[in-house]
Amino acid sequence: MVFDYRKIFREIADEITDMNDLGQVADYIPELKHIDPDKFGVHLTDITDQHYDFGDASEKFSIQSIAKVFSLILAFKNEGVSIWNRVGVEPSGSPFNSLVQLEYEKGIPRNPFINAGALVVSDILISYLENPKKEFINFVRELAQSEDIHFNPQVAESEKATGERNSALVHFMKSFDNIENDPEEVLDFYFYLCSVEMNCRELSRAFLFLANYGTDPLTDNRILTPSKAKRVNAIMQMCGFYDEAGDFAFKVGLPGKSGVGGGIAAVLPGEYSIAVWSPRLNNRGNSYKAMKFLEKFTTKTNTSIF
Ligand code: DON
Repeated sequence: MVFDYRKIFREIADEITDMNDLGQVADYIPELKHIDPDKFGVHLTDITDQHYDFGDASEKFSIQSIAKVFSLILAFKNEGVSIWNRVGVEPSGSPFNSLVQLEYEKGIPRNPFINAGALVVSDILISYLENPKKEFINFVRELAQSEDIHFNPQVAESEKATGERNSALVHFMKSFDNIENDPEEVLDFYFYLCSVEMNCRELSRAFLFLANYGTDPLTDNRILTPSKAKRVNAIMQMCGFYDEAGDFAFKVGLPGKSGVGGGIAAVLPGEYSIAVWSPRLNNRGNSYKAMKFLEKFTTKTNTSIF
């Protein structure tokens, strides 16, 4: 069925104006406090290269935990890298920065999208790549087909200055021998990858190959095998929203990933990739309005995977 997605975007944006004051921007990373909380953007890219956008879709924002999908893929695409003996694939049911399960699960994080898991993936990449930051940013640029994607050092350093919980997570995992490198080096790489800035258009473009079984449909470039792309989508579905992953599946029904910058990227395999941005967060660290928008979008268009 062919939809006028732009018209639907406008309709939904009108319907959710009562949510405009709900939630707060992330303030535990001081640099993120300055963002205008009322920004709102959407961009949908379909696998035939049709584009639909709305609002602030071309404005850059801090992708934060959405970067954990890119780091996982960069590790997973290489045959020689072993990941799954060091990080699991189960939903955690706990907040993104939680420490509790790590002790009784012996330093093995439940999945690569909670902070502990993303820190292990960062450690894996540091061991594997010659120049981790450069190779990471180039990989994201290749996925998004845009050279204009950068780290924001102010955001990374601001998080480093206040990142005690992540520091605790790395040191704790090191005590279980699940971190190989210097904890400071792991934290530095992790904070930089979270600081990447992209807009909704670039994000939906970068996720498009996950809507096309691992191959970028517009360049024919194979990023992951179909089997690996299926697995990344499965992890997004079950773990992309931490202790709200069930709710996101229940209401939206797409594999996706959120970040405390207020972004959400999600895919419908065989059809499209969509990115939504609204900086006000709920108490799980996920964007209120972006979630609601996607709930209404998949309902109106009947495009959930369920
Ligand atoms: O490590 C942190 O706390 C942030 N750099 C990323 C957290 C995040 O985006 C959680 N997602 N909603």
